[in-house]
Amino acid sequence: MRNVTTENVTDVVIDALGKHGEVTPRNREILTALIRHLHDFAREVKLQHGEFLYGCDFLARAGQLSDDKRQEFILLGDILGFEVLVDMLTHPADGTASESTVLGPFYRENPPVLPKGASIVQKHFDNEETIYFEGYVRDKDGNSLKDVIVDVWEDAPNGLYENHDPDQPDYNLRGRLKTDENGHYAFNAVRPVAYPIPDDHTAGELIRAMGHHPMRPSHMHFMIQKDGYRRLISQVFDSRDEYLDNDSVFAVKESLIGQYKPAPKEMGVDLHIEFDFVLTEDETARLAAE
Ligand SMILES: [Fe+2]
Repeated sequence: MRNVTTENVTDVVIDALGKHGEVTPRNREILTALIRHLHDFAREVKLQHGEFLYGCDFLARAGQLSDDKRQEFILLGDILGFEVLVDMLTHPADGTASESTVLGPFYRENPPVLPKGASIVQKHFDNEETIYFEGYVRDKDGNSLKDVIVDVWEDAPNGLYENHDPDQPDYNLRGRLKTDENGHYAFNAVRPVAYPIPDDHTAGELIRAMGHHPMRPSHMHFMIQKDGYRRLISQVFDSRDEYLDNDSVFAVKESLIGQYKPAPKEMGVDLHIEFDFVLTEDETARLAAE
């Protein structure tokens, strides 16, 4: 094809898929839609070449910022509401299992393994409120699930995750726990606070271009896994937070809002929260095992 036009270029590029090499069916499906939507986007806004170059530079800068401690592309996807959309497409709510929400850019692999009831706090802050967080993990029939791996992570009272704060110990406010024989999990922590997502570089540039703010409502992150069940990635929000209705990454769901209550004296902490989770069976794993 030597005569591409604004009208035929989309078909020309799509037709070229697989002409000189293998394209898997899924890649063909994804790339066909990507090319079509990308071209339609450019036609719709009459994208100018300088704007295209700005976009290339923006993505290059986002890539240069990313490493094992900072994941700028997840952040950009979050700000655009893209990660929450992909999460809902991957884990559609069924009204029974706990709802998932975005992983976000702050998860770290291999958190410290802790016994039930241990504290994830390695450094204390003057303004912290201590919490005892507990609950049960069950299946859809209400049966308790034991030995479920529960990863938790949160920001410190200064609004920073440890991997973005050189003054916090490595893996502060992160832990991996297991449910006991009754499906119960528990840990000590500090009340997470509302925080701005990192807006010093490309993420901030995008937020400002959108006329939005960078704040996220306070939340505790969870990743809950057990063989034979779908991995649940979720967050528990604070019912009193002022940003519940305008989260900068659009991740709040009503069913994930928890209540912090004053703790009974014998708990030895300021606040107490109970939050249960329901896992859904992983059909793919079950069928593969049969
Ligand atoms: Fe977070």
